[in-house]
Amino acid sequence: MHRPASIVLLTGAGISAESGVDTFRDKDGIWSKVDYRDVATPEGFARDPELVHDFYNQRRSGLAEVVPNAAHAALARLERSFRGRFLLVTQNIDDLHERAGSRRLIHMHGELTKALCAKCGARHEWHGATSGSSRCPSCQQVGHLRPDVVWFGEMPYRMDEIEGALWQCDLFVSIGTSGNVYPAAGFVEMARDAGARTVELNLEPSSGRGLFDQAIHGRASEIVPEFVEHLLAGG
Ligand code: APR
Repeated sequence: MHRPASIVLLTGAGISAESGVDTFRDKDGIWSKVDYRDVATPEGFARDPELVHDFYNQRRSGLAEVVPNAAHAALARLERSFRGRFLLVTQNIDDLHERAGSRRLIHMHGELTKALCAKCGARHEWHGATSGSSRCPSCQQVGHLRPDVVWFGEMPYRMDEIEGALWQCDLFVSIGTSGNVYPAAGFVEMARDAGARTVELNLEPSSGRGLFDQAIHGRASEIVPEFVEHLLAGG
């Protein structure tokens, strides 16, 4: 295979599973324990904001218990070693890609370690709990701070940049996502339309398996480092 000039990678919860971060749709996944409509929609937040603050406060404090795994490290190595254009898009709101060293990274669904003021629009690094009494450091208003996470029905972040990269890439790699949630689940088709080779790395075939040129199934901490080494060796 010719050496790619431009790579776009998409990751989902499966890349963080072996770090101890729960996925959403696996058996015993997050959505088997809590209804996404209560904690991951604007309507749910309006209905019971403290329930939503608690849901994200628990996941934010859980970040202290987990560390990046070999798959996160392999993607950071790829970014450092690859001489072409490179973009890592993650659906994950954990900070494991950053902690592994990834820099050219877009969190299209937001980040647990950020809070957003619905009043003034300011975003802030946030490592503690949020609540209805949290004060926005910018506008000093109380009662308008929310987790900086994109909920169902809201527009993912930096879609223009992501789509621009997908139209130019010649290799698209999807890692650890079930391919159930759009627009991320449609990225493979955009990449294909742009003429890219498309590869899926996942524990099992995703919903979009038929759209990929190639699929490698296994645990991310094993198949992602192998894939990266193969790519860097010119495979
Ligand atoms: N290695 C590789 N893949 C794994 C592993 C592993 N160790 N463990 C699980 N997986 C795979 C599962 O087979 C599944 O296909 O990771 C995928 C996780 O799928 P989901 O739980 O649906 O997570 P994701 O695809 O990231 O969800 C997308 O949905 O709820 C919203 O905003 C939320 O970003 C999330 C989005």
